[in-house]
Amino acid sequence: MSNIENKIEVSFTVNNKPVEIFTAPNRTLLEVLREDLGLIGVKQGCDDSNCGVCTVIVDGKAVKSCCMLIGQAEGTSVITIEGLEGENGLHPIQKAFIDHFAIQCGFCTPAMILSAKALLDENPNATEDDIREAMHGNICRCTGYKKIVEAIEAARDEMNAQV
Ligand code: FES
Ligand code: FES
Repeated sequence: MSNIENKIEVSFTVNNKPVEIFTAPNRTLLEVLREDLGLIGVKQGCDDSNCGVCTVIVDGKAVKSCCMLIGQAEGTSVITIEGLEGENGLHPIQKAFIDHFAIQCGFCTPAMILSAKALLDENPNATEDDIREAMHGNICRCTGYKKIVEAIEAARDEMNAQV
């Protein structure tokens, strides 16, 4: 990372592709992902760490991108919902959200799915309590959460059956 005339150069990867950004240091990862990289699957809500819709995965952890300055992304690996689909199509968590009707308006869904992925990658046998605990920072105005938890449990079982 270098600092020239109040701008910084930041190098990191997004969805496994290298990215170099030259930008003002007071911008957030959320702003750069949406405005500079066009990754609008990352949603903007409260901008204040309360709603969770801006969640992405940074170095394997679910992170609220509205609260991360772009300089903090230096050298990291960032995954957004646009990077989740694999060679065989939708990720099992994406499929489970569809199959279990865990999506209504969809505004919270990318963040919900990424939070669930970070959890299941770290704890493939996450219980319902683990899931509820991991998702507590993600607000959904539509579904009432039951379907979301059921979808994540189904994805957990599907992912474990594949290994
Ligand atoms: Fe609400 Fe980031 S936009 S937590
Ligand atoms: Fe609408 Fe969650 S599906 S906010």
